Amino acid sequence: DAPRVLVTGGAGYIGSHTAKLLRSEGIEPVVYDNLTTGNRSSVRWGPFVEGDVLDTSCLIEVIEKYAPDAVIHFAASAYVGESVENPAKYYNNNVCGALSLIDACRQTGLQNVIFSSSCAVYGVPSVLPIDETLPKAPINPYGKTKLIFEHMLADYAAAYGLRYVALRYFNACGADPDGELGEWHVPETHLIPRALLAAAGRIPHLEIFGDDYDTPDGTCIRDYIHVADLARAHVQAFTHLAKGGANLAVNLGTGRGFSIRDVLRVIQETTGREVPVVIHPRRPGDPPSLYADASLARETLCFQPRYSDLETIVRTAAPFFGLEARA
Ligand code: NAD
Ligand code: UFG
Repeated sequence: DAPRVLVTGGAGYIGSHTAKLLRSEGIEPVVYDNLTTGNRSSVRWGPFVEGDVLDTSCLIEVIEKYAPDAVIHFAASAYVGESVENPAKYYNNNVCGALSLIDACRQTGLQNVIFSSSCAVYGVPSVLPIDETLPKAPINPYGKTKLIFEHMLADYAAAYGLRYVALRYFNACGADPDGELGEWHVPETHLIPRALLAAAGRIPHLEIFGDDYDTPDGTCIRDYIHVADLARAHVQAFTHLAKGGANLAVNLGTGRGFSIRDVLRVIQETTGREVPVVIHPRRPGDPPSLYADASLARETLCFQPRYSDLETIVRTAAPFFGLEARA
């Protein structure tokens, strides 16, 4: 029998790219999604069940029906700003939803969990690059919900033998190199899609949230990791657990940080379009600089980014915004 994975949130941005890669690796993805931010049209590589992770009995039914070897848990609310304004939504969806999922796992004997965590668990790091041993001190409810579930996974592992890999993504970006899937959030708040919308003239300009940070050009620095590389890491995490590997919480980044102005320069060079910008005040809760020490993922999962140079990121994302990349 081919291996099978339950993919909560598999109609979303990172989940759909991962489902496609799983299928191409001979692993059947069963997508479970309530379509709040995901798209039905992005579910094309296996069965789809419309359901909510808060619904434990529906999850149990699906797990009993499909008997997956693991679950990859993407389903969550993922807007940092909204989490500050409406923490109830975040604790409910990201903590109660995740609890419902691992309780369904416990009741059905499904032991392997791969979880979408975030670099937001570190808050404002005291040193760079960020390695996994740094203090976990999230500065917003979103990051706190991710850390709470990491703790829950560790406790369920100790008490019930659950096995897990928590993947702390840095800044997910880019689109399917075959052009079948892209980034499509409503509203779209992430830097690269907004910059491409501005370059394409679909929004009047990109607002740069602060150019007075203590960084070389005054704009924030982030570690941009291509969604195809993230998808690969999930397959590697699945293999790791299937081989009996240890429970892990690892960073997924490139180890390199780029400023907003670096990103805009590459968009201009790659598409030939200037990104019109307006300087705005800082966005509350933005750490000045975040980039990963990516060595643990390399050592434990053989994680090696292949698509995460800025040019490839822009080249794959640009067509979704009506822009052509230069030859
Ligand atoms: P997304 O919004 O595109 O995908 C989330 C999916 O989960 C959507 O399809 C949505 O419909 C589904 N969903 C939400 N709540 C649900 C529920 N209660 N029941 C069933 N389905 C539900 O987001 P994304 O950017 O693909 O992020 C996926 C995961 O990765 C999230 O857990 C997010 O927190 C995490 N993450 C994302 C980034 C990033 O840069 N995009 C960075 C770090 C971590
Ligand atoms: N930015 C702008 N203008 C925009 C959008 C973003 O200047 O229109 C800036 C932000 O202020 C930030 C950088 O571009 O300095 C990147 O912002 P994103 O919103 O693209 O990404 P974040 O770094 O805020 O968020 C990402 C993930 C979250 C995760 C967070 C951890 O999307 O899931 O990193 O800090 F929690």
